[in-house]
Amino acid sequence: MILGIDLGTTNASAAVIKKGRPVFVKTGYSQNCNILPSVVGYNDKGEIVAGEEARDLCLVNPDSAIRSVKNYMGKNKDIVLRNPLTSENVSYKPYEISSKILERIKKLASEQLGERITRAVITVPAYFNDKARKDTIKAGAMAGLEVVRIINEPTAAALCYGLHNKGLENNHVMVYDLGGGTFDISVIEINDDIIEVIASDGDRSLGGDRFDYALFSSFYKKIKAGGNADIDNLVAMSILLNESEQAKIHLSSVVKKSLSIKEFGFDEVLYREDFENLIKPFIDKTVDQCRAVVEKSGIGNRNIDKILLVGGSTRIPYVRNVLESALKVPVSQEIDPDLAVVTGAAIQAAIIEGRQVDSVLVDVAPHSLSVSCVIEKNGRTVPNFCSKLIRKNTPIPCTVEETFSTLNDNQDTVRIAVYQGESDFEENNVLIKELKFSGLKGRKAGETEILVNFSYKLDGTVDITACEDGTKNKLMDSCATN
Ligand SMILES: Nc1ncnc2c1ncn2[C@@H]1O[C@H](COP(=O)(O)OP(=O)(O)OP(=O)(O)O)[C@@H](O)[C@H]1O
Ligand SMILES: [Mg+2]
Repeated sequence: MILGIDLGTTNASAAVIKKGRPVFVKTGYSQNCNILPSVVGYNDKGEIVAGEEARDLCLVNPDSAIRSVKNYMGKNKDIVLRNPLTSENVSYKPYEISSKILERIKKLASEQLGERITRAVITVPAYFNDKARKDTIKAGAMAGLEVVRIINEPTAAALCYGLHNKGLENNHVMVYDLGGGTFDISVIEINDDIIEVIASDGDRSLGGDRFDYALFSSFYKKIKAGGNADIDNLVAMSILLNESEQAKIHLSSVVKKSLSIKEFGFDEVLYREDFENLIKPFIDKTVDQCRAVVEKSGIGNRNIDKILLVGGSTRIPYVRNVLESALKVPVSQEIDPDLAVVTGAAIQAAIIEGRQVDSVLVDVAPHSLSVSCVIEKNGRTVPNFCSKLIRKNTPIPCTVEETFSTLNDNQDTVRIAVYQGESDFEENNVLIKELKFSGLKGRKAGETEILVNFSYKLDGTVDITACEDGTKNKLMDSCATN
């Protein structure tokens, strides 16, 4: 079997097509994790590891691990990692580091698919030059993988959207890929089953990492102003950066997030609106680049049929909204932006194997699922707001968690009302379950935190768990969706 691999700057993933459905290689600690952090490093035992373990090591031993090595592919750069066991500095070429990620993927895929994987299709950005493509093939070979085809990431995304088998003629699609480290924009032309990148551009240093740094800087200034914490060291900064990323991710599904980092004496409430103001200059820049690339392609804005969203950072609702209103082109959201490229690579792999892939079926949540809560917007209290935990079209099975806090002093009960539908407000959605969670420790308003977990299963049922933070108080139930 040929494995499809998306070797991303921030995350890597792998998949194959089985019975017309993509099967993703599970890569993380958590059960439903399909993406492997593209981080490589030395652990305390002096072993080289790739993935989540390496990402965690980055927090404590930043000079023993490396992220985003893809940015150096094709370049003659030496990457130095410190082996904490021997204190020796060891030098690697970028493709040698990449091969460690591929090795890990190969091992996981072989275990899960029950056969030794030796061949792969790997995706690369459209802008990759010949040397960077050859380095990718070299990395595969070092990991024991014959790279049977290198395909462009936007082409893979188009394959995933099934655009190769609809008999389209002269169809133009813009692939907007906002990942962790890079922004890539491509205009592709589809004629029957020929998919061609006709113009591409991007920014090698724009992506989710920049948003994390923007939040990091604002937190850093506040912590410094407080004057009580020592954060001018690599470990503290790594922790703060990680918290910044988590806060950013939360703000894609909730409009308000409380953040507390005890070791820095930091306690803040973040609002989605403030985050949007922080990233506005970056997003505006991507819109300018979209316009420039359409101009370069010579086809005119009116002739772009669709924008495909790819990359984890396109989960930020603001990105979608700005694109739609600025470019006036429909933005598609049918596919998980994290998995579009790897699914395309798996389709390409199946085609090379001579299998007919007409369309790929992905099981998705047909409606968004929310918890009703009270939020603050523009200084006003807004009740009956539906905070979306699982968005429409999220591939299932999936598990999502969100923290809510109490509204009143001494509150010992909360209502957990689960709504289905796309509106931000209760009255336009359908109530599918209402739970009463009682026995909470009556504390000051906002101090009691309730962690709500939705686990959406393939049969359409959702397991709901609510736990009071820091206690054993827990409530479990489930409900059916339709
Ligand atoms: N729900 C979310 N809201 C906001 N950002 C998110 C969300 N989920 C993931 N991200 C961000 O997406 C980025 C990773 O995206 P992705 O996995 O597409 O990158 P990549 O393909 O590895 O990188 P690149 O495209 O730069 O090569 C990270 O910055 C991560 O924080
Ligand atoms: Mg990517």
